[in-house]
Amino acid sequence: MRLFAAVVVVTAGGLTACTEDAPPLPPALQGGTIEAPGCGYLVTSREGAEAPLLADDHLGLDPTVRQVHLGLAADPRSNMVVMWRTADDDTRAGVVRHGVGGLTAETRAITYMYQSGIGGLGTPVRVHEAHLCGLTAGTEYQYQIVSDELHVSPLYTFRTAPDITTDPDAEVIIANVGDSRDGFAVWAMLVEQLRTRTPDLVLFSGDAVTIGPFQDEWDEFFTAGEPLLSQVPILSAHGNHEIHAINFYAQLAMPGEETNFSLDYGHAHITVLDTSPPELGDLTSSIQDFLRDDLAASSSARWKLVNHHYGVYSASNHGSDPTLQAAWAPLYDRHHVDLVLTGHDHNYERTFPMNNLKVVPTPAEGTIYIVSGGAGASLYASGTEAWTAFSTSVHSALTLRIRNTMLQLDAFDPTGAPIDTFTITKP
Ligand SMILES: [Fe+2]
Ligand SMILES: [Fe+2]
Repeated sequence: MRLFAAVVVVTAGGLTACTEDAPPLPPALQGGTIEAPGCGYLVTSREGAEAPLLADDHLGLDPTVRQVHLGLAADPRSNMVVMWRTADDDTRAGVVRHGVGGLTAETRAITYMYQSGIGGLGTPVRVHEAHLCGLTAGTEYQYQIVSDELHVSPLYTFRTAPDITTDPDAEVIIANVGDSRDGFAVWAMLVEQLRTRTPDLVLFSGDAVTIGPFQDEWDEFFTAGEPLLSQVPILSAHGNHEIHAINFYAQLAMPGEETNFSLDYGHAHITVLDTSPPELGDLTSSIQDFLRDDLAASSSARWKLVNHHYGVYSASNHGSDPTLQAAWAPLYDRHHVDLVLTGHDHNYERTFPMNNLKVVPTPAEGTIYIVSGGAGASLYASGTEAWTAFSTSVHSALTLRIRNTMLQLDAFDPTGAPIDTFTITKP
């Protein structure tokens, strides 16, 4: 056990964990890497966690599978990551059986422990993740998690992303929601609404929990989310309430270093960015550089979406972010990003199309900014500024229906009642 003072500081800008006086982590919690079998990439655990190992046959007292959810670490046409915990946190055994129309293949899990809590003083938590690679695009798979023959999960299904080179008419549904924090009853209602809308991918805009290192909240988030997230992969922007906790990195499977990354899903190019990096100067240097290069390299994408936590425009509590307006919005303008999906303010807001900080007449001339921070945290009053096309202070989630020539947004409240919709078409 590590003994030192550690506090969480709440400032106007958000939450910061202060552990400057922490002694070095013991060697066992320095993280590590392992190659995902059959995938050709490395799985990394961060500082605060053990090095990842392949599952063996060790069973703890209760290997019941819990908190099943999906992630993506590589090309979503051929990759899926199945993640779970067991009731005992001691079991190391685990495989995923999977296939099309039957469980014909088996992939052994990777597993490791991490130390939750501020400064690692909370409970130890074990995660299991099986990386499925070489899958067929646009295909429904069945899967089942097996600790041993007595502890088997229900049968689940997921769908791989379509290959638009062979299926140019493919439509995908991308969900966006954020800021559940301590409002997990609302989150559970939105999970049910989203589940009935059969999304392909959930883009979470951050602040899943109130205090990132506290495992109890993550347990509520993933337990309530399981009916949706056991079938649909989740990628989350890092929110200021996650404070770069090991819990965030260990429980979500995302591409690259997991805070700034991009992927193509159907006709959408999706860029996910961190608006509260450990070094704030990175917003205007390394992350800005990543964004510039990423958008330049994806110029042929039909639709460009960006997902991050802080709002570039908001007429609510936290307001617009001048750093992002100065450093990132000019890149959104230059590369004609269609939609920027954000959270942080706990309400729903949609701007008019914006270019060079001004309202422009049509989406063909600018970028629409969405605040979708209504996943359960206490609501903030909505506001209206010159850029505001629509705003309302209700809990909400939204889906984006995306085809080659059309993007349709539908936002709805936890009962499913519609609150906003619009469609953009391209020739
Ligand atoms: Fe928030
Ligand atoms: Fe936030």
